[in-house]
Amino acid sequence: MKNISSILLDRTSIRKYSEKPVGNELLNDILIKGCRASTTGNMQVYSIIVTRDIEKKRELAPCHFNQKMVTEAPVVLTFCADFNRFSKWCRMRNAEPGYDNFLSFFTAAIDALLVAQTVCIAAEAEGLGICYLGTTTYMAHKIIEALNLPAGVVPVTTVTLGWPADKPEQVDRLPLDAVIHHETYKDFSAADIDRCYSEKEGRKDSRQFIKENNKETLARVFTDVRYRKEDNVYFSKIFLQVLKDQGFMNQ
Ligand SMILES: Cc1cc2nc3c(=O)[nH]c(=O)nc-3n(C[C@H](O)[C@H](O)[C@H](O)COP(=O)(O)O)c2cc1C
Repeated sequence: MKNISSILLDRTSIRKYSEKPVGNELLNDILIKGCRASTTGNMQVYSIIVTRDIEKKRELAPCHFNQKMVTEAPVVLTFCADFNRFSKWCRMRNAEPGYDNFLSFFTAAIDALLVAQTVCIAAEAEGLGICYLGTTTYMAHKIIEALNLPAGVVPVTTVTLGWPADKPEQVDRLPLDAVIHHETYKDFSAADIDRCYSEKEGRKDSRQFIKENNKETLARVFTDVRYRKEDNVYFSKIFLQVLKDQGFMNQ
């Protein structure tokens, strides 16, 4: 096992996996460690769907815009906000659950994301590679169908997991003072923004990215290509409908 500093400092997302299987025992060990993550009121209002079956992965692939990791990774983990199990337990014990509201969804989503990241660290400590799939929230309605998720359960993120077949170069991070504020939030002047983003904008890979996308600035690649307003608005509407359908907007 690697030491904790190198697990955290040397990691990269892994998008190519070798054929080597991930054993059940190892996966179980990683999941046990992941489930030690902090959880709201110790309720564990999350579920993790483990997908290993190639047919199921093929069914999930379009839900992730056919990102190839879904079918190529030996394991796909879908992390769900889940008040279904907990609410059933409450009802069976003569307790009335009050979790059909947005705050409860957000609580369960926080739980699910904390367990997801802890699973990822546990996996990376074993030398496994992971990649998150943000497509989960875009296509939650389809994932709900594919994975048979009942009311009270909403997928919030997906992680592909396997032995790395690639050692990608680390990508940049903003300087620490771009994300850390001491005592109170110190808003950014134009000069602060220039300073925070100058290293990122000056990088060769960023300049290449701008050129490939035929854009004027790096920011325009984000706003015009990668995370466009019209897509955000479109998928927001679908996700809000998912929250309604799954019973989280009944307040
Ligand atoms: C919530 C979330 C969603 C992500 N979605 C995707 C995705 O759909 N496809 C992908 O290839 N990478 C995805 N990533 C990985 C990021 O692109 C990656 O973490 C980021 O570029 C930084 O690279 P690093 O993890 O190698 O440091 C996602 C990461 C997060 C945290």
